[in-house]
Amino acid sequence: MTYETLLIEQHDAVTLVRLNRPQALNALNSQTLADLIAAFAAYDADPAQRCLVLTGSEKAFAAGADIKEMSEQSFADMYGSNFFAGYERVTATRKPVIAAVAGFALGGGCELAMMADFIIAADTAKFGQPEIKLAVTPGMGGSQRLVRAIGKAKAMEMCLTGRMMDAAEAERAGLVARVVPAEALVAEALKTAATIAAMAPLAVLAVKEQVEAAFEMPLSAGIRYERRLFHALFGSQDQKEGMAAFVAKRPGVWTGK
Ligand code: HXC
Repeated sequence: MTYETLLIEQHDAVTLVRLNRPQALNALNSQTLADLIAAFAAYDADPAQRCLVLTGSEKAFAAGADIKEMSEQSFADMYGSNFFAGYERVTATRKPVIAAVAGFALGGGCELAMMADFIIAADTAKFGQPEIKLAVTPGMGGSQRLVRAIGKAKAMEMCLTGRMMDAAEAERAGLVARVVPAEALVAEALKTAATIAAMAPLAVLAVKEQVEAAFEMPLSAGIRYERRLFHALFGSQDQKEGMAAFVAKRPGVWTGK
């Protein structure tokens, strides 16, 4: 399958998705959204693919939603079409997604990166929610996910002033898991993805669901939910294999059953 705004590569069990609108610094237009929806659905549906890396170019992960496309839209257009709701397909992805960010991740670009399970940043990365400078607000989850990632003070400051945060500050603030040299970004992200792809598939799904639950549930319900998923994995062949392999001092071989 080929896409107008994405380049897709498969590296064994890892899908690499590159945003590819260099003329617009990967600004997210409706074609990009349609392509992302199709690419993420294809990834989720393919049992051979176990982890996805979403990246952009050296200069920009994505410089935001496409301002030229949005500029003449009315309230009725936006509200009527539930503009941006399609991105829920990205967050509905059941298997892991890593965002590998170099250069600008602004507005919708920062928000798309935060939809991933975690972000690995190049030392060139710059994160920001500059919508205020366009007389609008974050609209793809930025006001919510940024607060949860870095707390109210920094999130509020960034959304109200539009200032950018560099990679070192983003790591200190907890927005990104790790910062790596720009030239090593994609290789590092693919290596991390390959590590995840080699884990028992049902346990990977369960970990993702557990950690997601921490954002949706009160603590007591989240702990109960975690424990039930933990219990449930004792119904899997891979749990038997994983523990037997540990005892026998050999690597586990997973069936995904
Ligand atoms: C459409 C964009 C774009 C965007 C860049 N381009 N960002 N086109 N939408 N978000 C285009 C430029 O118009 C230009 O094309 C080309 O990409 C290169 O950009 P330059 O500005 O020439 O590059 P540079 O001088 O290096 O500046 C980089 C930049 C700047 C600092 C990232 O491009 C910038 O500020 N972009 C907008 C960032 C932003 O405000 N993002 C939030 C968008 S709103 P041409 O053809 O003109 O040369 C958003 C909303 C979310 O995301 C939900 C609420 C509505």
